[in-house]
Amino acid sequence: DLGPYRHFMQKEIHEQPRALADTLEGALNSQLNLTDLWGTQAPEIFKDVDSVLFLASGTSHYATLVGRQWLESIAGIPAQTELGHEYRYRDSIPNPRQLIVTLSQSGETLDTFEALKRAKELGHEYTLSICNVAESAIPRASALRFLTRAGPEIGVASTKAFTTQLAALYLLAISLAKAQGRLDADAQAGHLDALRQLPGSVQHALNLEPQIQGWAARFAGKEHALFLGRGLHYPIALEGALKLKEISYIHAEAYPAGELKHGPLALVDSNMPVVVIAPNDRLLEKVAANMQEVHARGGELYVFTDADSHFSASEGIHVLRLPRHTGLLSPVVHVIPVQLLAYHAALVKGTDVDRPRNLAKAVTVE
Ligand code: F6R
Repeated sequence: DLGPYRHFMQKEIHEQPRALADTLEGALNSQLNLTDLWGTQAPEIFKDVDSVLFLASGTSHYATLVGRQWLESIAGIPAQTELGHEYRYRDSIPNPRQLIVTLSQSGETLDTFEALKRAKELGHEYTLSICNVAESAIPRASALRFLTRAGPEIGVASTKAFTTQLAALYLLAISLAKAQGRLDADAQAGHLDALRQLPGSVQHALNLEPQIQGWAARFAGKEHALFLGRGLHYPIALEGALKLKEISYIHAEAYPAGELKHGPLALVDSNMPVVVIAPNDRLLEKVAANMQEVHARGGELYVFTDADSHFSASEGIHVLRLPRHTGLLSPVVHVIPVQLLAYHAALVKGTDVDRPRNLAKAVTVE
């Protein structure tokens, strides 16, 4: 049932405040009870863990690129991430104290499932699945599991599964910090409070839909687009580029903004729209310098920033402001406008938004 929406993707984008609230409910109500959240073995395993390896594919992989940074900055635990289909075919050095974390919306993605099996063959026993489908293969094969409560995701392009995965990853970072004695009561209260505000911040971002629709109309006539971000927002640039190519078939690439000078700047001219994820964080001035490099070469900038940053629109620089900066959780809010941009660009192009060509919802073959 689509209700007032035209496509499942649009409905699922708008369901994100609710999906996040549902996913976070258990943690907020239990004051971060590790056993309730992750399973009976969690306190013991989390205490012993010395590092984390994330395994996933596609959009779920992009969530891990954010999660890895949260783990290191919040829990102080070294974390790496790898695509499942790369990990399973290479020689790697197993470490029995490493926690293997798989992320999968469907729980049936073969590349991720086979990577988990490979990790277990190598002797890994600390396995954790973050998944949106309870009775699926990947959580069943894992020692610990966390179910996101996004509800069924029908649109092929993943949206609400991604943001709820991010919520789960934030919970993982604070849970590991707690288990290892690195989270005092005040810090825990602060993180839980930030999570409590998150659905509201996402709703504010959704309210920008009419303005984003205006931008999308300009994209639909383009053949290429660049997405830039830094730090926690580089994965959001990747996700924005993936959404755009998947459903509108516009060729899009994402780079960490600092990489621009090392090659991609050669692509920039007046036909190249450049989307910049530029929240008001400690990298803002660095991103601003990168924007200047694009502007000087005639590239058209589409900038998503926060209410309190100093950017202003001018010739060739379009600026949309999200209402408030949400600190470490900012990627969850800043992904909303790039989802909407892709959706509306696809609408203008008239593609089959919910069932883009050549793609399947769950990739159960290699
Ligand atoms: C992109 C998308 C895919 C999936 C990927 C993994 O919009 O949906 O990239 O994220 O195929 O799927 P899951 O999360 O089910 O393992």
